[in-house]
Amino acid sequence: MARPPRLGGKLRAVRLPLLTPRLLLRLPRTSDVPLLLRFLNDPGVFRPLFTRTRPLRRRDETEFVAGAIAGAKQGAKLSLAVTLRESGALVGGVGLEIRDWENGHGWTGYWIARPYWRRGYGSEAVSAVCGTAFRTLKLHRIDATVFEFNARSAALLRRLGFRREGGAREVARKGGRWVNEKAFGLLAREFRPFEVRNHGSASPKA
Ligand SMILES: CC(C)(COP(=O)(O)OP(=O)(O)OC[C@H]1O[C@@H](n2cnc3c(N)ncnc32)[C@H](O)[C@@H]1OP(=O)(O)O)[C@@H](O)C(=O)NCCC(=O)NCCS
Repeated sequence: MARPPRLGGKLRAVRLPLLTPRLLLRLPRTSDVPLLLRFLNDPGVFRPLFTRTRPLRRRDETEFVAGAIAGAKQGAKLSLAVTLRESGALVGGVGLEIRDWENGHGWTGYWIARPYWRRGYGSEAVSAVCGTAFRTLKLHRIDATVFEFNARSAALLRRLGFRREGGAREVARKGGRWVNEKAFGLLAREFRPFEVRNHGSASPKA
């Protein structure tokens, strides 16, 4: 198996892939592009995203993959593919951008493909990235923003300990209407790592 590229700059302390009970988080590859396009071109997935506002073309995703690899090598940001440990299937994406190293301040964004919703994968992936941000990179806080209509994403953030800190009105036009955003913040000391329910219970100890 090809070795994962080494992360650069201040991200070099991070060892990829990140492993959780059910997930493996790795850098995206060009071979992921067809699935990324299929999953991200679902309006239920791209409409709530801030960074992807319209249906994507193959070129967008190819550039995204190249940017993720370059960003990781430069130590600027971590954009990871979320895959299942068991099968290797790609199920989503999660990112961490360090906005201010001096004050230990990062930002996260994430998505899970519709066929995999409501299994806890989103919480598990964001929890892994927050754990790495606080334990390995020693960040102090992580920001996340969600559109007001995105109750599921707000619930995910609250589950991990994020608190509502504010918001902004009419930040984007979605489906022909202006929408407000809610701002959430998580301090290192408030982080509640996600616990997968019933994991491994299928094979109880003798
Ligand atoms: C928001 C989004 C990331 C949530 O992804 P998800 O994987 O479905 O979310 P979660 O991790 O929060 O799933 C939690 C649910 O899994 C359930 N679950 C099922 N099996 C579980 C298990 N073994 N362990 C823990 N929870 C489990 C939980 O009970 C919870 O159910 P509930 O929603 O009825 O309370 C996803 O809907 C999405 O990608 N939406 C579009 C893009 C988007 O909104 N991105 C965020 C932009 S801010």
